[in-house]
Amino acid sequence: SLSWLIPVLISYLLGSISFSFILTKLLKGVDIREYGSGNAGATNTLRVLGKGPAAAVFLLDALKGMAAVGTGYLADHQNQILMMVCGIAAIIGHNWPVFLRFRGGKGIATTVGVTVLLVFYAALIAGVLAILFIVITRYVSLGSLIFTVMIPLVMLVLHFPYSLTLLTLLITAMAVWRHRQNIVNLIKGQERKI
Ligand code: G3P
Repeated sequence: SLSWLIPVLISYLLGSISFSFILTKLLKGVDIREYGSGNAGATNTLRVLGKGPAAAVFLLDALKGMAAVGTGYLADHQNQILMMVCGIAAIIGHNWPVFLRFRGGKGIATTVGVTVLLVFYAALIAGVLAILFIVITRYVSLGSLIFTVMIPLVMLVLHFPYSLTLLTLLITAMAVWRHRQNIVNLIKGQERKI
């Protein structure tokens, strides 16, 4: 409905704020998208700026996802679907930011923020698994993929509402699409490790 338009638009704009781009510009004067994997995200910030800034980017990108969910909450306290749609809008903004000619990141930190607020136990279980995979294999992309694929699966098993589960499937689909080059690299054994 029309009352969704404003919170969803605000959420997209929030998501479009690329903290990896801002921090690498401020601290190093470069465009992060010209380095490493070319991705505007926390993982590539780790390659360009190091651990502290990467952690800050992860946190800020997660927070903007939470802020988007909060925007949906403000519009309608009861409507979890609207909150999830706002979260998805923030992830779309992160991946395709209007301020950066639609070349942004892969949406994982923002997804973490959205899912921790809306589907906490699914995020927790998927998160623990993802961290395990990252620690063992050193592939952040593999952990990211496992995280987003596990979320709807855990939601199904834990009997979350179907409508919410279906919506998170959209998050999974976007994440897989954004990681398509990572998937090719993983299969070829050419993916960057951290
Ligand atoms: O969240 C992004 C991560 O999964 C992969 O980033 O820079 O290695 O492509 P990158």
